[in-house]
Amino acid sequence: TVIHRADYRVPDWLVPDIALDFALDPETTRVHATLSVTRNGAHDRPLRLDGDGLVPLEVLVDGRPLDPNEWTLDNDTLVIPLGGERHSVETRVALAPSANSKLMGLYASGGLLCTQCEAEGFRRITFFPDRPDILSRYTVRMEADKTAYPVLLSNGDPVASGEAADGRHWAQWNDPFPKPSYLFALVAGDLSCNADHFTTMSGRAVKLGIWVREADLPRTEHAMKALKDSMAWDERTYGREYDLDVFNIVAVDDFNFGAMENKGLNIFNSRYILADAETATDADYDAVEGVVAHEYFHNWSGNRVTCRDWFQLSLKEGLTVYRDQCFSADMGSPAVKRIEDVRALRAAQFPEDGGPLAHPVRPESYMEISNFYTATIYNKGAEVIRMMALLLGPDRYRKGTDLYFARHDGQAATCEDFVRAMEEGGGIDLTQFRRWYEQAGTPRIAVSVKHDPDSHSATVTLEQSLPPTPGQPTKQPMAIPLRTALFDRQSGEQTGEQTLLLTQDSQSFRFEGINSPPVLSINRGFSAPVIINAQRSQDELAFLSAHDDDPFARYEAMQQLMVNALVHGITTGTLDPKPVIAAIRNTATDPALDDAFIAEAVRLPSEAYLGDQMPVVDPDAIHEARDRLQRAIGEALEPLWRNLHRRSARPVFDLSPASKGARKLRNMALVYIVASGAEDGARVAFAQFEQANTMTERQAALAVLANGTSDEREAALDIFYNRYRDDALVLDKWFQTQALAFHPDTVPLVEQLAKHPDFTLNNPNRVRSLYGAFAANQWAFHQKGGRGYTILGDLIVALDPINPQTAARMIPPLGRWLRFDADRGALMQAQLRRILAQPGLSKDVTEQASKSLPTP
Ligand code: ARG
Ligand code: ZN
Repeated sequence: TVIHRADYRVPDWLVPDIALDFALDPETTRVHATLSVTRNGAHDRPLRLDGDGLVPLEVLVDGRPLDPNEWTLDNDTLVIPLGGERHSVETRVALAPSANSKLMGLYASGGLLCTQCEAEGFRRITFFPDRPDILSRYTVRMEADKTAYPVLLSNGDPVASGEAADGRHWAQWNDPFPKPSYLFALVAGDLSCNADHFTTMSGRAVKLGIWVREADLPRTEHAMKALKDSMAWDERTYGREYDLDVFNIVAVDDFNFGAMENKGLNIFNSRYILADAETATDADYDAVEGVVAHEYFHNWSGNRVTCRDWFQLSLKEGLTVYRDQCFSADMGSPAVKRIEDVRALRAAQFPEDGGPLAHPVRPESYMEISNFYTATIYNKGAEVIRMMALLLGPDRYRKGTDLYFARHDGQAATCEDFVRAMEEGGGIDLTQFRRWYEQAGTPRIAVSVKHDPDSHSATVTLEQSLPPTPGQPTKQPMAIPLRTALFDRQSGEQTGEQTLLLTQDSQSFRFEGINSPPVLSINRGFSAPVIINAQRSQDELAFLSAHDDDPFARYEAMQQLMVNALVHGITTGTLDPKPVIAAIRNTATDPALDDAFIAEAVRLPSEAYLGDQMPVVDPDAIHEARDRLQRAIGEALEPLWRNLHRRSARPVFDLSPASKGARKLRNMALVYIVASGAEDGARVAFAQFEQANTMTERQAALAVLANGTSDEREAALDIFYNRYRDDALVLDKWFQTQALAFHPDTVPLVEQLAKHPDFTLNNPNRVRSLYGAFAANQWAFHQKGGRGYTILGDLIVALDPINPQTAARMIPPLGRWLRFDADRGALMQAQLRRILAQPGLSKDVTEQASKSLPTP
């Protein structure tokens, strides 16, 4: 069944209050729920309570037990006819958390009991109208064995606790803020707490707790710092203050995604909480900081103001991603953060927008909402907020968000509500801009520049087009803000940046006072999530790579220079590395640039990104050309790489931007030293591997070695495995590094790793580290013959009965058949058909696989 956005109706019954009573046990947990329900409007429809796999053991209305013929189960929905305006409705159910391998609802993970409810997991815990526009006040009582579950946590504030019979104990928590059911959470377990506190801007004292296994306590410092920084940042930047007396975070090992913003009780995948120098890379540290901030920021953008229905998901996710991106930019290097975010958008969202699963930021329909936690909702959604912030400017953007939070506090709102608050608070008309919420696909913009020496002016002409996407054969023009500047070739000066607002199919913009043919710098800072085709020469790009004063544009010029060289090399067979080498030398030796930026700028585009630049992806030709260019760069600049590698070694570990930058550059230099083919390459990498005092350097060295066929490769993999075999998060890196390797035997190696005793389908991190990485390894995954596709098809078939959400996330790589040659395309489609033919397939996988096949 397909759910349509247009079918939204206000709920028939509201639930202002709910009391939950849990008798917790991993084998059989009993849940007693008491709902106060009130009729919403004049109608005679029954009360319908969602359930998923639940059987009512007892149903009571106003204290009276109902006969089984006084209620019905309509599929999984409990239907109770009710007269009158308000009632107390009670249900009792029993659950088996340890048998819950879907990791939705109440489940067991590493000796803990924990919950995940977003989007529709609450209905796996108790019967309830499980939709985000029902806001209720929660009272939660939990009882459990005191030895196995000494800590009992839920949303809001702890109000009472005590001993119970048979070595059990109980605790009660109340959450004063009405909230949707997807924000409910509880955790029971033997946890230790990193306790700290924060005083809010109005003087409220908040107790902070990060709860983990005792042995992991030393690894929680970075997350705690990130939490306090986030709380202060949201006060400073958005005027948003925390609103409860406690804020708790729990780390769990088995989790379907990154983390969850449950009110006052965030639950995290442990990979986004735990970090220390021995086990976490700098990228891991950054991810911890970013995800902690993301979940904390949801307290306002998501919890205080939530979503009316799941079509509005980007209301909270796009806004919160934008907020966490800005936070991380403020905590570190804004230039590098922007480069990383754009790279992620291009790697995940652009392919989605260009494929069979393309959907608007506000979708029109879905079968399974879990499939819509996508790069489009999150990352493109964040770009849409970023464009509004640009169009309004900082002060008016802040007026808009103030109005949004004031007007909708305590409500379940829509994307339209947000845009209207931006319009009214910011004093701007966003009528056409709303198409960013409606139309899927990545706009393409063709750019030409004409210089007129007589009038000393230049005209920039922009033409936009938006390719058709499923259900949207034709499109209206979008409103696209493009930060643009022209550079004078002689002086290297720019003329003054303008934000060109492209609103028509084709439009020209005139720049005055331009004396000679200028060099165009456009979409600076990546001001719009579009594809620019500006046909600039390698000379012009080299000029921008040296002179552009916008760091993103400068990075982009380098990337384009490399893409041009590679695509030309692939299509004509002759690759000219010289302009690339010259630009890299210039960048890497520019004393005005910091190490982190240099490392980003000198890095070659990924094979997948190169594939996206070609009409038909040729994985082998791409791999071969990129390899050749990398070697040429390594050889030509070998002394430079050796020097940078030596120079950026750091004797002690710290997380300063300078040290992180140095490590990034050192790892990049190592890539080029090894790529040069120097006879001692593997030895240099192995030395870095052995002497590393951070996981950042150790993993990078391992990755470089894993690409080759040296003896050092096997030695390093063995050492790494034996050193970290008991640390799940680091062992994930061991699997991932091998699955990502450019090694001739990656495909059979992945097959072997799937049989490794440490591999399991029950842990989503492990599944992603092997198969997610493998599917992202274009050269290996798309190897001729389709063995990679079979490997992924086998996985999906095996994983679907265990964890359909995680299985469904593996479908998109098989849906990219249109981008490849007919042979590969047919093999990819064959896997999709085979998956769809499985009996008892989940809704999650059914939706993704069927949408990924050509429409008949
Ligand atoms: N709201 C969570 C976050 O963004 C993610 C929840 C994902 N839920 C899902 N069903 N995929 O932080
Ligand atoms: Zn989120």
